[in-house]
Amino acid sequence: MKKKLQVLSISLALTSAASILHAEGNIHAGKQKSTSCANCHGEDGNSMVATFPKLAQQHSSYLERQLHAFKDGSRNDPMMSAMAQALTDEDIADISAYYATQKISENTLPVLEPADEDEKPADNKTIQTIIAQGSDLYRNGDLTSEVSACIACHGPFGEGNKPASFPALKSQHADYLIKTLTDFKSGSRSNNPENIMHMIAKKMTDEEIKAVSIRISMMK
Ligand code: HEC
Ligand code: HEC
Repeated sequence: MKKKLQVLSISLALTSAASILHAEGNIHAGKQKSTSCANCHGEDGNSMVATFPKLAQQHSSYLERQLHAFKDGSRNDPMMSAMAQALTDEDIADISAYYATQKISENTLPVLEPADEDEKPADNKTIQTIIAQGSDLYRNGDLTSEVSACIACHGPFGEGNKPASFPALKSQHADYLIKTLTDFKSGSRSNNPENIMHMIAKKMTDEEIKAVSIRISMMK
């Protein structure tokens, strides 16, 4: 119950902040302004490179928050910090509105490196076992290590929560998810509200991060 209330009060705080700050962006202008982003994120926000996040279908309030964070330096990435410097508040609202209207593309099932005859991995897991492990963590969390269930905030289909500005995760590249969860874990991505994602990721093993990321990348 206490956890539920906590989540609720965080969502309410984010909702009211978002509605005060939020002026609707212009989708058409956003498309024009996003040409400089297309090299890395794809014209419709579906990037081809797996470490460049897809932006298509993401909640505009979340995209805006990240762009402001890159701009003011509270989220660090050498490529994005430079890109965000050049954007005005209006550009950020327009571009975010544009990507939110695009449809995210599906991923294909990742192929695990075939185990080398001499050095078979100790666990020798199949992709199905990994996905099942990731699915269990996503839905139920882990009671022993106290990892919260992702479903509570990111939704049963990885659709996120628009009013609360919790990001959608479904069909995101697994490589980007692994990278960003590892950054939350180490604290190098530290602009998340109330430090929620750091508190969760620091309790996860690298194996759990990989499993849940692969699972999420296959959600449609
Ligand atoms: C040179 C490549 C490059 C260009 C150009 C670029 N980005 Fe990025 N972008 C990245 C990378 C890499 C990341 C992931 C950073 C990280 O790992 O934290 C990212 C992350 C983001 C995120 C955060 C997504 C999330 O899910 O948290 C947003 C939003 C974003 N970029 C928007 C833009 C916009 C808008 C533009 C154009 C004005 C742009 N990017 C141009 C490489 C690029
Ligand atoms: C209490 C709510 C809550 C729970 C539970 C939660 N998250 Fe999050 N998550 C958030 C919020 C809020 C953000 C946005 C952080 C920010 O603004 O930087 C986020 C961001 C993320 C991101 C970054 C998305 C992007 O595009 O960069 C990933 C990945 C993620 N969460 C994965 C997970 C996983 C996996 C779990 C379960 C093990 C989980 N989350 C559980 C609230 C939650």
